[in-house]
Amino acid sequence: MSVSVAPDGTVFSFPTPEEDKIEFDILKRLSEEERKRGRKIVVVQGMGFVGSVMAAVVADAEDRNGEPLYFVHGNDLVSRRSFWKIPVINSGKPPVSADDPEIPKIFPRCVNEKKTLRATWHPGVFTFADIVVVDIQLDAQKPVLGQAEEGYCDLNAFKQGMRTIGKSIKPECLILIETTVPPGTSEKIVKPVLEEEFTKRGVDIDKFPPMIAHSYERVMPGSKYVSSIRDYWRTFSGINEKAADLAEKFLTNVLNTDNFPICRLGHTNASEMAKVLENSYRAANIALMFEWAKFAENIGVNLFDVIKSIKVRKGTHDNMLRPSLGVGGYCLTKDPVLANWAAEALFGLEEKLPLAVNAVNINDLMPMHTLEIIEDACPSLQDKRVAILGVSYLQNVADTRHSPTKLLWENLMEKDAIISVHDPLVKVWTELGDMRIEKDLSKTLNDAEIVVFAVGHKAYKALHPEDVVEMCGRKPLIVDCSNFLTDDQIMKYLEIGCNVIGVGKGHIKQLKEKFKK
Ligand SMILES: NC(=O)c1ccc[n+]([C@@H]2O[C@H](COP(=O)([O-])OP(=O)(O)OC[C@H]3O[C@@H](n4cnc5c(N)ncnc54)[C@H](O)[C@@H]3O)[C@@H](O)[C@H]2O)c1
Repeated sequence: MSVSVAPDGTVFSFPTPEEDKIEFDILKRLSEEERKRGRKIVVVQGMGFVGSVMAAVVADAEDRNGEPLYFVHGNDLVSRRSFWKIPVINSGKPPVSADDPEIPKIFPRCVNEKKTLRATWHPGVFTFADIVVVDIQLDAQKPVLGQAEEGYCDLNAFKQGMRTIGKSIKPECLILIETTVPPGTSEKIVKPVLEEEFTKRGVDIDKFPPMIAHSYERVMPGSKYVSSIRDYWRTFSGINEKAADLAEKFLTNVLNTDNFPICRLGHTNASEMAKVLENSYRAANIALMFEWAKFAENIGVNLFDVIKSIKVRKGTHDNMLRPSLGVGGYCLTKDPVLANWAAEALFGLEEKLPLAVNAVNINDLMPMHTLEIIEDACPSLQDKRVAILGVSYLQNVADTRHSPTKLLWENLMEKDAIISVHDPLVKVWTELGDMRIEKDLSKTLNDAEIVVFAVGHKAYKALHPEDVVEMCGRKPLIVDCSNFLTDDQIMKYLEIGCNVIGVGKGHIKQLKEKFKK
């Protein structure tokens, strides 16, 4: 297939060799012009959820006189999955969607007004870079669901990305790795690949050691998407002092470091570890809460009230997380696995990270609990009409990667349920063969016997129980996976005659008793 299809259905053909040639000439001319204006050239490799917005943040950075500091080339591959992002960005539109009002503004501002951002597929772009920011993906493989301890990291595609950079960058170019990597990657993987490529080109690596730095993103692709990159604390490190100094200068220029000071760590292993530990901590926090959710359900307790009452202990307990349908997204599902794998594969250690990987197992299997409580309430799912509301992995984002809804959907399919799915933000469900997602809620709910509030999107918050029941045309079983319903709403559903169940919401039993009285 030599086309790439954008989420809105627009088809983009891959570039021809002639277009390749023209593109390189454009890159050369633009880079030379921009350098003459005193701007440094930044290439961001990977125009995904992180890289595209980071590229816009860099392109938006200005000096004290309001002059742009950098010209940014966003780079991605000629692939079916990603090529569309390049023409979309170049038309001034964001390649991501989220309910952050900054997202639809920052792309046209940088591409059309400031003219400091342009995307390209051409790998020759690295020739012109003063700074390369690496934001490509690096996956953990988990061959068996629930056995994350068997997970591993295949570094081949990532290494290839580093090789592309090493083949053409200037020897003094800074390479800032933002991809989440197994600890040890900058030193044990990136450095040797770059040194090999430098040596092949006759660059003296004693005189010009590759300038590698590492700084991880804490981006949250929701309502504060842009701000979570620009106005947020950063940790970084360099492979040597010079690389760390260069990274510090760059990060200070592009991020709001006056209000969110950056933190320099002494070794790339340290900042790489910081990222995967940060996410392992969150994964373990959620896994612990899930264990207690089941306990709460069994003894008639509302776990969410319990958590709220504990969170008043600022400084020690205010960051307790919560159970839900499950844990998805790109990071919490893989980062502990990357760390666990690295301990042995990159450092030869026997002692690994069993608590962290067990958290991944618990979280990966969490959607099965929702299936269990549905089956408790409705023993045969065969031919039952189930409406699932929300397919993204998190409320108010359009990202479906590793969405827990997928496991629920698959298992409901296996039980021969008749499923309809709705999501206000997701257009196509890539992980389910580009399935088109229904936008009309009343169509999704029509005739539903079971309604699963899978994701707590804002759009669902405004739904009144009467309206939901009317759209269903019957009194469905209501399943609250995300502490979505207030007790008043639950009482309303009960009053109408619906059954209601929920993850971590053992107190619904008592509400039912109260209602009976
Ligand atoms: N999504 C998040 O919320 C988040 C948060 C923090 C950190 N991260 C980390 O940031 C990294 C990127 O994540 P993402 O969500 O943006 O991934 P993504 O899959 O959305 O984007 C990666 C992009 O890189 C491109 N790419 C892959 N190889 C390439 C190459 N050799 N040259 C050019 N482009 C290439 C892909 O085509 C894709 O467009 C990951 O390591 C992830 O763990 C993600």
